[in-house]
Amino acid sequence: MVHVHGRQFHLTNGLVSYIFEANEYGKLLNLYFGAGVPDREDFDYLVEYQHRPMSSCPQEGNLLYSLEHLRQEFPEYGASDYRRPAISVRQPNGSAITNLEYTGFRIIEGKPGLSGLPALYVDSTDDAKTLEVVLLDKLAGLRVRLWYSVIADLPIIARSARVENIGAEALEIERLVSFNLDLPDADYEMTELTGAWARERNVERHRLHSGTQTVESLRASSGHFFNPVSALARPGTNEHSGQVVAAAFIYSGSYEISAQVDTYGVTRLQVGFDDFDFHWHLGAGETFQTPEALMSFTVEGYNGMSQTFHDVVRKHLVRGPWRDKERPILINNWEATYFDFDEDKLVSIARKAHDAGVELFVLDDGWFGDRQDDTSGLGDWYPNPRRLPHGLKSLVQRINDLGMLFGLWFEPEMISKKSKLYEAHPDWVIRTPGRAMSHGRNEYVLNFADDKVVDGIYEQMKALLSSADISYIKWDMNRNISEGYDATRGFERQGELFHRYVLGVYKLHELLLQAFPNLLIEGCSSGGGRFDLGMLYYTPQIWASDNTDAVARMKIQYGTSMFYPLGSMGSHVSIVPNHQSGRVTPLCTRASVAMFGTFGYELDLARLSTRDYEEVKAQIAFFKRFREVIHAGVFYRLVSPFEGQRDAAAWMAVSEDRRTAIVGDYHMLAVPNSAFKRLYLEGLDAKMHYKVHCTGVSSIEGLIFTGSELMKVGMVSSDASSGESGGVNPLGETEDFASRLFVLSAQD
Ligand code: GLA
Repeated sequence: MVHVHGRQFHLTNGLVSYIFEANEYGKLLNLYFGAGVPDREDFDYLVEYQHRPMSSCPQEGNLLYSLEHLRQEFPEYGASDYRRPAISVRQPNGSAITNLEYTGFRIIEGKPGLSGLPALYVDSTDDAKTLEVVLLDKLAGLRVRLWYSVIADLPIIARSARVENIGAEALEIERLVSFNLDLPDADYEMTELTGAWARERNVERHRLHSGTQTVESLRASSGHFFNPVSALARPGTNEHSGQVVAAAFIYSGSYEISAQVDTYGVTRLQVGFDDFDFHWHLGAGETFQTPEALMSFTVEGYNGMSQTFHDVVRKHLVRGPWRDKERPILINNWEATYFDFDEDKLVSIARKAHDAGVELFVLDDGWFGDRQDDTSGLGDWYPNPRRLPHGLKSLVQRINDLGMLFGLWFEPEMISKKSKLYEAHPDWVIRTPGRAMSHGRNEYVLNFADDKVVDGIYEQMKALLSSADISYIKWDMNRNISEGYDATRGFERQGELFHRYVLGVYKLHELLLQAFPNLLIEGCSSGGGRFDLGMLYYTPQIWASDNTDAVARMKIQYGTSMFYPLGSMGSHVSIVPNHQSGRVTPLCTRASVAMFGTFGYELDLARLSTRDYEEVKAQIAFFKRFREVIHAGVFYRLVSPFEGQRDAAAWMAVSEDRRTAIVGDYHMLAVPNSAFKRLYLEGLDAKMHYKVHCTGVSSIEGLIFTGSELMKVGMVSSDASSGESGGVNPLGETEDFASRLFVLSAQD
């Protein structure tokens, strides 16, 4: 998997190849990243030296050698490359000019973890190889170790960098990325997942242009605005074919992903910390490890890219027993009760849900401290005596007695001013001396960069989680840091706060998982404001959005699926009119969207009509039957809700053995006298015969087709009633926002 020829490195698993070399001056030059290619003795022909007038040349007498014109591996600024550097380190004399030179390499079997940081892992050392390349600048007292891990069965490479101060005085890291990739041209469309609260991860695309385009967050959290992922695809790429280079950050704090197109059409893709709030004081003898970033390549379009990321998350990122266990169908009381509940009300919601087949009851906000509304109680993680006078144990026992698992909401990083914790430790809050504190939803942020704060919250959570049989927690985070300042550290370390904060968040997760290895943690941040690969290392699932409206969710889940698997996407059926959009959608559509996620309910089922309640029971039975296909199968997006031509959306999941597939087919507004439609399915076995079962009205119910027909001729999916209403159509009626699920079962 790692071929070394002199100073040339070829990392390949047959699916991808990544080739770079150290030139005679010790500089690392990128030669190729793309589809797997056979090895050869010398790829040096891929370095193109050219004489370009008016260039700065670092080697006297050599007019052909200017770093500005070379595709580099880990570029530095200020010595003839004027593009964005991968690293910038200020030295005691005030200079930030460095000259890192290649000094050697080693190959590590498998893939080591990164201390204190989330990272891909492999089950056996045969499943990956890691190349470490060492760079040295003696004058600066700086050593950098670049890590590249090739995962055996996936077209993906994990990269990170470790910076060591081997000098006698402190260094200041002013810029550092986890990877730099100089691609030979700029003929790409960049995909971004952008959004806001309640409309997370919209798919946006634009052609690369000269200059720099970035997605970023300056919030010490990955945030709602841009997700820490990006894809560069050849124009014309669609869901099913086309070359895509993708990048993603396994990190949950501030970041920047940039694509800089230079004047020669070279695209420099970088993933790393952003410059605004990252600055690291590296004392003599200290080392600094970047988070890990991933790069992938496919010729199979956006679905190909997504499937790679789904696999990597499911097999090499999510850990512990919940990696392979079926995720429980849950009921969450938030939209059912908000803050208005007591023990009996919760038990009655749980009982009705249990009778319908729900497996886990989740008690959301309001159960702790003196929390009456959102102005108080955060930080006091003991049962609210007014709402739960018999304590938590009694409630948990009653839920367990029903035969359900019990789960609890926390917001560990936050504090209310009206709390016992604030009375005891006002100094635990992040604030800048002499300045007013901005609040978010009446909350303030605890200084998780300070170990004693993390330990204090851990002790409270540990006591609580040990006090009753709690299987799940929902870890929320409802605001970002403002007036950031670390009162526990001096002037030179203020630029470290945001990263140290994120390390504190990871530390608390790790402590909890070590103490309670069977705990299932669902991440959340005002909905999907911290949906990233970093969190998925600790929280196998993340609440995708506070917006539970089925139509909005089609977009949110479609966008989320670009990088994240269905089993990671928290998704619930809620009441109508929807609490976020006011829209009324059919119950079947709310479920058939939520089923392409973790699946659960967020309403009081007792308030449904008998007919709807019976429908819920059938939905749950359906999901239990096909949960494995949906969560462990291969997912294909078929029709995008972002592209308006069809006013529709469709997607499907195919079981690993390709014997079963579930297709979700969604319409927006009913169209009278509508056009004929077909869905071109994907991923089936061409020769297998599949019998069709549709949850709604369909002209092909019960018919048998070969996989080949369903993929090439297409599956007839015309609206049976063609949008007609008024009770005169013998085939029934279609409402707005209608949907159908098709089950395709292989016939022996
Ligand atoms: C956030 C979450 C919601 C809910 C509330 C409770 O907004 O995203 O799901 O838990 O907090 O306050």
